[in-house]
Amino acid sequence: MLFSHVKLATMTGVQPYGLIADGAVLVEDGRIAWAGPRQDAPREKTGKAVDCGGRLLTPGLIDCHTHLVYGGNRANEFEMRLNGAAYADIAKAGGGILSTVRATREAAEDELVQSASVRLESLLREGVTTIEIKSGYGLDVETEMKMLKVARKLGETHFVDVVTSYLGAHTFPAEYRDDHAAYVDLVCAKALPAIAEAKLADAVDAFCEGIAFSVAETEKVFAAAKKLGLPIKLHAEQLSNLGGAKLAARYDALSVDHIEYLDEDGVEAIARSRTVAVLLPGAFYYLKEKQHPPVAALRKHKVPIAIATDLNPGSSPVHSLLTTMNMACVLFGLTPEEALRGVTANAALALGLKDRGRIAPGLKADLVLWNAERPGDLAYPLGLNPCAAVIRDGAIVRGQIG
Ligand code: NIG
Ligand code: FE
Repeated sequence: MLFSHVKLATMTGVQPYGLIADGAVLVEDGRIAWAGPRQDAPREKTGKAVDCGGRLLTPGLIDCHTHLVYGGNRANEFEMRLNGAAYADIAKAGGGILSTVRATREAAEDELVQSASVRLESLLREGVTTIEIKSGYGLDVETEMKMLKVARKLGETHFVDVVTSYLGAHTFPAEYRDDHAAYVDLVCAKALPAIAEAKLADAVDAFCEGIAFSVAETEKVFAAAKKLGLPIKLHAEQLSNLGGAKLAARYDALSVDHIEYLDEDGVEAIARSRTVAVLLPGAFYYLKEKQHPPVAALRKHKVPIAIATDLNPGSSPVHSLLTTMNMACVLFGLTPEEALRGVTANAALALGLKDRGRIAPGLKADLVLWNAERPGDLAYPLGLNPCAAVIRDGAIVRGQIG
């Protein structure tokens, strides 16, 4: 199949967006076989050409940080915060993450599949073809495994690739409130080996913060993950600068996420590893944070920047990656090009996926056709969905092209 007459944002090379003004993409066996200017398209293969009418074609979007699977909701806390309560205070009083833990423990697997499917559908409508989903609202071994199974199941029942992260170190469960060391032990010695054995997690994540895990506790989790050969990620420097990102860089983390409080020293540390900086403007927006992530330093040290919804019931009930791109531009000063790179090429890096995120020969043929002429149009509007069609592994799975 040749997708012809497209404006191509390949996200490769040095040109902004890797733009090819009048391009074509040849897809064979679910992979991109060729991409380039239309006039150079391999002639012998143009039998099954589809005219895309000059519209924009991008890689499939990748949401590289979500907490999509959870029970209950936290609209009440949204209301409490608007009545003056602080996010950290709600958490200390047993609300916050712990209230979602209670609801998630109670929910049956089917209910979780059901509620998460509705949320997932919102993302897929906007061209998401790969999503990362974290556990972290179960905390006990059984519920963490239940969440990860639900995440895997979503990948089997929807047109999307699901990548999972075990986030047992999200917060301390009520039953371990007075014995943090024992909980860290449970995560490292019991939960992680069981989850790795069942192949339920593709990576291990933690929340390093004053209200969550210390640097020393986080390091124990990283060491255990490393022993099992699992890559790591970290919620770091969201509300304060504890030095979590530096630790993550030492463990060659795939990504450090949030990082509003990261300083230049920390940026230099992650620049020396393969670690991607994942910005989460949804949480910044909902928590009305004032501290901006160090975008200038990230650029200066050439750290790849990704962006993600952080979809979760507390700090970021955001169900739109396009909105997130807009927020990254308006709130953090990213360019629309950086925003698109942040949900394609760099989001793939943040998940350690080398086979997607760009339009280049050999990569997975996950593509989105937009009712748009220029790639800059994607981050520009709020609440408009210009997605015309989604192509996954070379097949049209949503919308139509004609
Ligand atoms: O990424 N920062 C920690 N975890 C989530 C919030 C989870 C919650 O509030 O339920 C986040 O923002
Ligand atoms: Fe998160």
